[in-house]
Amino acid sequence: MTSSYAQDGLKDRAAVVTGGTRGIGRAVAERLAAAGARVCVTARDAQDVRRTAAELDGIGVSGSVADPGHPREVVEAVMSAFGRIDVVVNNAATNQPYGPLMEADPDAWAAAFAVNVEAPLRLVQGAWRAWMREHGGAVVNVCTEGAGHVGPNVGAYGTSKAALLHLTRQLAGELAPKVRVNAVSPGLVRTEMARFVWEPGEERLAAGLPLGRIGEPDDIARAVVWLASDAADWITGADLLVDGGTRVRTAYSGPEYAVHDRLRSYAPPRS
Ligand SMILES: NC(=O)c1ccc[n+]([C@@H]2O[C@H](COP(=O)([O-])OP(=O)(O)OC[C@H]3O[C@@H](n4cnc5c(N)ncnc54)[C@H](OP(=O)(O)O)[C@@H]3O)[C@@H](O)[C@H]2O)c1
Repeated sequence: MTSSYAQDGLKDRAAVVTGGTRGIGRAVAERLAAAGARVCVTARDAQDVRRTAAELDGIGVSGSVADPGHPREVVEAVMSAFGRIDVVVNNAATNQPYGPLMEADPDAWAAAFAVNVEAPLRLVQGAWRAWMREHGGAVVNVCTEGAGHVGPNVGAYGTSKAALLHLTRQLAGELAPKVRVNAVSPGLVRTEMARFVWEPGEERLAAGLPLGRIGEPDDIARAVVWLASDAADWITGADLLVDGGTRVRTAYSGPEYAVHDRLRSYAPPRS
């Protein structure tokens, strides 16, 4: 039997997408709205929030996810407009500060964790108290494929996203069976946040990926919306890698693979 997102229970549900005005968050908000959900987008730029909310026939709340009063404001706005809050997509993030960890400024480090880890927790707490504890719901946290390995100058981002992934699992355990909590971990996607990575050498980067192209926001949105829908109603605590095969490429191109390659001509001793 085929099913559509609308059939998978998103129709008339209420969803919040943080950072929903552009990039991956915008694509998620569009998909949710297309599935019949009532959508609230957030971002810092108030004009973008107003425009996006109007385009999606939803509502918006402007401000930084890291502002102490922001999660409460968002939950109150959603409850007052829609009377429920079924889906939370924690998508807004910062990939700064850059640089070696030995030079990491404590305030900048704390700011990264405030946006990438603390804010998702606060929003889920608010949604839980206002609606999900009694009625259930689904949370999807947008992490990153990059948190699975180390890289130069992105230690604060990678560490905070790895913490978000663990937060996902911890919340999945604590909030079951009422609320499902999952992660989507994107590879390189064509958005503003990653422009400095893909713009200078997209062709070369794409050629190095098993699926031959970098990601588009909607590649990630489809996975997020699927996890938020009833189609995924026996999935919680999962991390869905949506990376065009980046992780496979990494596994097959490192020095370890050269070692494995030698196995082709390796004759094991008789045992
Ligand atoms: N693009 C990639 O290659 C990639 C790869 C792996 C993971 N990701 C993850 O995917 C998610 C979305 O990233 P993206 O690439 O779509 O980024 P993007 O195109 O730069 O969009 C970011 C969105 O978040 C909002 N935002 C940023 N900081 C915010 C804050 N402090 N409070 C509230 N809203 C905030 C932005 O609006 P304002 O600027 O107006 O606030 C915008 O709507 C992030 O969690 C990112 O870590 C992206």
